[in-house]
Amino acid sequence: MKFFVDTADTKEIADLAATGLLDGVTTNPSLIHKAGRDFLEVVKEICEIVPGPVSAEVVALDHETMMKEAEILRKIADNVAVKVPLTIDGLKTCKALTGDGTMVNVTLCFSANQALLAAKAGATFISPFVGRHDDVGYPGMELIADIRLIYDNYDFETEILVASVRNPIHVLEAAKIGADVMTAPPAVIRQLFNHPLTDKGIEGFLADWAKTGQKIG
Ligand code: E4P
Repeated sequence: MKFFVDTADTKEIADLAATGLLDGVTTNPSLIHKAGRDFLEVVKEICEIVPGPVSAEVVALDHETMMKEAEILRKIADNVAVKVPLTIDGLKTCKALTGDGTMVNVTLCFSANQALLAAKAGATFISPFVGRHDDVGYPGMELIADIRLIYDNYDFETEILVASVRNPIHVLEAAKIGADVMTAPPAVIRQLFNHPLTDKGIEGFLADWAKTGQKIG
């Protein structure tokens, strides 16, 4: 499963990229607002840090203006994935852009039928939001399982990008279902590395090692 980080904080992105485990980045207008930086400038910087797909979202609602915005975004770098909302105009834009060889991430997906439409429109990524689904009392992971089944039925190449990930359980469940990608905030990705028994084990080994009086090298 590919790991994307869901942030526009370039320091966090650089820190996580240094692990060698980061495959891409997703941003959205709220994350750009949080970063408090110029949108185009920050996307360019992220694209230089991470060679994998970097999602940058259009804000227009009509196809024509979405295409104009996408034109600006895709010129930033070859690894920009233009993010469009799951609407009729968004999917029209997706079809046009992917036909041209541009990566497209279709966002704000809340149903398996929407995911089916995005795949038919040639989306590179479909982003179902599991956390926001859970928030309204619907098990978000059931949506991921449904999309996996449908995409496998028809051999769609669209990658399932599990979004709105809030905790390590979401990551685990997404991996068990066979999602292609998950995008999570930096704090959730950092949580994945940790286990109290790992810490306790290191502590015990180091204590015993100190007793040997030896050094490596
Ligand atoms: C995905 O691309 C979105 O940016 C993101 O995962 C939204 O997450 P949220 O529901 O925590 O805002």
